[in-house]
Amino acid sequence: MQQGEPSRTALGAARHRAAHQVLEGGRIFADPLAARILGVDGQAAARQSDDDPSRRVLRLFIAVRTRFAEDALAAAVGRGVRQLVVLGAGLDTYAYRTKLGESLRIFEVDHPATQAWKRKRLAEAGIAVPRALTFAPVDFEMESLGHGLVAAGFDLAQQTFFTWLGVVPYLTEPAVLSTLGFIAGLPGGAHVVFDYANPPVASGDGDEHAGLREKLSARVALLGEAFQSYFETEVLHAKLSALGFGEVEDLGPALIRERYFANKGGSSGDRGGHIVRAMTV
Ligand SMILES: C[S@@+](CC[C@H](N)C(=O)[O-])C[C@H]1O[C@@H](n2cnc3c(N)ncnc32)[C@H](O)[C@@H]1O
Repeated sequence: MQQGEPSRTALGAARHRAAHQVLEGGRIFADPLAARILGVDGQAAARQSDDDPSRRVLRLFIAVRTRFAEDALAAAVGRGVRQLVVLGAGLDTYAYRTKLGESLRIFEVDHPATQAWKRKRLAEAGIAVPRALTFAPVDFEMESLGHGLVAAGFDLAQQTFFTWLGVVPYLTEPAVLSTLGFIAGLPGGAHVVFDYANPPVASGDGDEHAGLREKLSARVALLGEAFQSYFETEVLHAKLSALGFGEVEDLGPALIRERYFANKGGSSGDRGGHIVRAMTV
């Protein structure tokens, strides 16, 4: 991220969610606040999107990861989880549209510059901040997540659900593993949903979207937020297991196509963007 500036990729992800409401009618992920938090209407957000296939692939991936995380969260809440941490929240709107009221305590953790910008956006859009939500500014590369959360009133002993969407690729591997280690070590038990990407390979080498990924990688680097970490799936699973995550569900491109797109529009490649749900309980 640029020093002292809010995340430009957080703005990009929010635009994709807003465009998805119009271009695909919110089919995968419906978010009535997606355009409002940006201060635009849905049609304007859709116009900002374009036909570039790399943007379409990313828009759908963002819709899927958010849907998957919110479905997993709903299931965990059904089993009694009452504490949620949205890591690297960007302009995520879950806290402002959940019907769970004060029965779910929510912490939004983000880089201080992005969080200050979000709070301004919320005020300008007239979106009320619920009483159950607490903001915790933390720079994952410089500060301890645990300290930031505890200072904000987080209960270490309560079983907690973490969402961490669109953040891992922008952090160094030590910062990623230290955050996962913190989550895995929580005495009350924890669930986490995050996404990651396999290391890039040459086009035609098992990653059907290799060319599109190269474009995306160049675009985020130009925004000052270059990708910093990639993981081979098996290596990551071994690390998760060593950290103490007993159950790991990993949706790679093949499972994503099967589950959300009825297997349409792709070959058999399974390299690329993955979404993971891991838990210690
Ligand atoms: C691509 S955005 C994703 C935002 C949101 N989760 C979403 O899906 O729309 C990346 C997020 O990671 C956060 N981030 C990047 N580097 C960070 C760091 N070192 N510490 C804290 N947050 C960071 C940014 O502030 C931004 O909110």
